[in-house]
Amino acid sequence: MKIQLSFVNLAGIETELLAVLAADTQTSKAPDAKPEPVLLTSDEAVQTAAASVLSSGEYKAGANETLLLHAPAGLAARRLLIVGLGKQAKANVPSVRNAAGTAVRFTKPRGIRELVFALPEAEQLPPGPSTRAAVEGAFVGDFDPDTYRSDRKDQSVQTFTLAASGNSDQDALKAAFAEGVIVGESQNLTRSLVNEPGNKLTPTILGRRAAEMAAEVGLGCEVHSTEKLHELKMGAFWSVSQGSEEPPALIVLRYEPEGASDGPVLGLVGKGITFDTGGISIKPSDKMELMKYDMAGGAAMIGAMRAIALLKPRVRVIGVVCAAENMPDGKAYKPGDVETAMSGKTIEIINTDAEGRLVLADGLSYAKQLGATHLIDAATLTGACVVALGMTNAGAFSNDDPTWAKFDGALATSGEKFWRLPLGEEYAELIKSDIGDIKNTGGRYGGAITAAEFLKVFVEETPWIHLDIAGLAWVEDSKPYIAKGPSGVAVRSILEWVRSF
Ligand code: BES
Ligand code: MN
Ligand code: ZN
Repeated sequence: MKIQLSFVNLAGIETELLAVLAADTQTSKAPDAKPEPVLLTSDEAVQTAAASVLSSGEYKAGANETLLLHAPAGLAARRLLIVGLGKQAKANVPSVRNAAGTAVRFTKPRGIRELVFALPEAEQLPPGPSTRAAVEGAFVGDFDPDTYRSDRKDQSVQTFTLAASGNSDQDALKAAFAEGVIVGESQNLTRSLVNEPGNKLTPTILGRRAAEMAAEVGLGCEVHSTEKLHELKMGAFWSVSQGSEEPPALIVLRYEPEGASDGPVLGLVGKGITFDTGGISIKPSDKMELMKYDMAGGAAMIGAMRAIALLKPRVRVIGVVCAAENMPDGKAYKPGDVETAMSGKTIEIINTDAEGRLVLADGLSYAKQLGATHLIDAATLTGACVVALGMTNAGAFSNDDPTWAKFDGALATSGEKFWRLPLGEEYAELIKSDIGDIKNTGGRYGGAITAAEFLKVFVEETPWIHLDIAGLAWVEDSKPYIAKGPSGVAVRSILEWVRSF
């Protein structure tokens, strides 16, 4: 998909499809109140073309509700697509992101090759953030997961033009547009990695993909394997990996901008389980195929590092991805085993399916050894987090309120939903072991929290954020603006958190 920004008058654009946004201004709560949709454009010709259908009451401008008009009178465009934002009072920048995705996903399967998307004009939709969000949303909508279909037709929209009015602040919009492209492409890189099946994306191949990305954007990159894990005494990470024929990969990405040699160093640590069978505590076969996405946290870090390299914030960042395959095997680790982590802490294995926290334990220790002063990790860590928060909010934890405040601020820009859950001594009690320092599960209740407490043991006093994205990394049902499949969640929030330093 070619994407461009242009400053034009909408009525005169010759294109296959012009998309404009609408919002419902009806405020009455009466059940039979008629919707009163308005177009979010000042272009009078476009308003006239849509006037009749908007006054008909047939179209409510609900969120992502679409309406297509052919041969709209008075416009050079061959089709006019109206995309709803829902109630006007609630229309915001994230709703623009989704509407752009909806426009792209409407256009794609219809064989329409060009799409001009009008930047909405409304008081609560600032043009810069709306521009960036529309571009991100277009990339999100453009992604489809059917990579290996032999009859895959390239139905991609060939050109997506974001149309802004001629009297906008053109330089500001160009900068916002360029940012949106970087972020959208990076999020889709993450999604394409997450989408790959376990046989096509082993830890080694994930390492290669990270190294290719790093070479393209000028990041430092090292990919280590078994020997290095032994050298660093990463007994927790190795224990997970030892049951697989596929060697592990310890992927390190470095962003070292000039003039930031004495500020904070941010450590981004991702869970990269390229397939999670559960190991000896094997998972039921129902839906096990989805456990290819158990590397989504690691892929989010790879996508975020790409965006960081291109957007060049003035802060040092180290990415650490712990990639392994969790398999049952004669050499696999077993319940009851005691492993010694890189930090020296001993871990009693209760359940080999609680493997993510083990690879992260050593990843977090290593990021600290490499100099990280602040840590953030992302992982598809627990089913318990999905039980707690569903598929609407991802879980988040922090041991430091100022660091959390930065992340909370980042969410306003990213438009992603994370809900902070508590930590506490009572939860930490639940993972004390009789034979060693800690055990890798804390029983049935509060499973997302005891997993976070486990990680906290290795983070120690370093300010830290933990993101449990198990419920959001995979979209179970397609939405008008995003396909069923990998979501790329956390890339945008992590990026904005980094930029807040
Ligand atoms: N990768 C899973 C968590 C998961 C579940 C991710 C569903 C995405 C969707 C993780 O490794 C796991 O198996 N966790 C166990 C932990 C338990 C054994 C303490 C779980 O959640 O059941
Ligand atoms: Mn598991
Ligand atoms: Zn897992």
